[in-house]
Amino acid sequence: GKDGYRHYMEKELHEHPLVIGQTLQRMVDPATRRVSLPDLPFNLASVPRAVITACGSAFYAGMVGRYWLEELARLPVDIDVASEMRYRDPPLTPGSLGLLISQSGETADTLAALRGLREKAIHILSVLNVEHSTMARESDTVLGTVAGPEISVASTKAFTAQLTVLACLSIATARARGKLDSLREEELVGALLDLPSRAADVFKQGDAIRTMARVVAEARDVLYLGRGSLFPVAMEGALKLKEISYIHAEAYAAGEMKHGPISLIDRSVPIVATAPSTPLFDKTLSNLQEAKARGGRLLVFTDTRGAERVGAIAEHMVVLPSVHDFVAPILQTIPVQILAYEVAVLKGTDVDQPRNLAKSVTVE
Ligand code: F6R
Repeated sequence: GKDGYRHYMEKELHEHPLVIGQTLQRMVDPATRRVSLPDLPFNLASVPRAVITACGSAFYAGMVGRYWLEELARLPVDIDVASEMRYRDPPLTPGSLGLLISQSGETADTLAALRGLREKAIHILSVLNVEHSTMARESDTVLGTVAGPEISVASTKAFTAQLTVLACLSIATARARGKLDSLREEELVGALLDLPSRAADVFKQGDAIRTMARVVAEARDVLYLGRGSLFPVAMEGALKLKEISYIHAEAYAAGEMKHGPISLIDRSVPIVATAPSTPLFDKTLSNLQEAKARGGRLLVFTDTRGAERVGAIAEHMVVLPSVHDFVAPILQTIPVQILAYEVAVLKGTDVDQPRNLAKSVTVE
């Protein structure tokens, strides 16, 4: 049941802290602050590149994974949505790593992409929530997200669990490739271990998020902006809003705004920014100032350190706990999903069963 929540989606949003913690328990030793993955049938140190593919939210999780694998592990990464990957014929070195991400493990395009990669002698490592799924059977290795059943059609907790697994995989890959000393590993694992309690703190911002939701609910179009590992979080926010509130939303890498979408900016198109105080914060802030100067209404998700700098340019701000840069995309996802939920509630849509959508897309 819904345990007293209005919708499964609301219940599942509240499970974020638990699910992140459970997923970490499988992959992290809290005593030594080291990641320990199950034995893999290939050597992470010698894979020449990774190919990441998935659909929808799982694809956005993969995009965050790309930032981590490139930055921490110095591993070259190619990424595409599965519906494109399955019909592409990228030149691949045998022995590369295929990284498939799926909540259901049954998504037709992702499964077809998996089979295509297999034929090219690519090791298949899948990040799956449903561990007895078709993709699980056809993978060399499965890393499970311990999110439990997700009933709401719009994915929530499975996404942060995917990010948690990808963060651990990136740490393990970086260590295997000699790019991470044990002090830095302890620091990154410590940041992950802090997440469940920081994630629980996000729910103290419910009123601030609902205030933002009232602005978004009046809009016909909404622009989401973010940079670096926060860009996929902006994409996730825009997708969730479209899915359950039926409001048109688009996500842009903040630096791309001046190459087109800036012409859309006026008071009728609110701008939602994911802008915690990571090293790219100043860059995002200057994009927000540009938008503000053109009459844009700014709704900003930031953290305690960023809030002072964002200051008065934001019409509404949600101030989240400051966390390590590495895990900022995991934390920032939660309020962005809650925003979409609150907007859908205001609009009175069928939150758990949005029109035209199915939980698992088993046809192409
Ligand atoms: C977003 C959503 C979809 C799924 C996509 C992939 O809220 O639910 O975009 O993320 O259909 O599904 P899985 O992860 O089952 O492969």
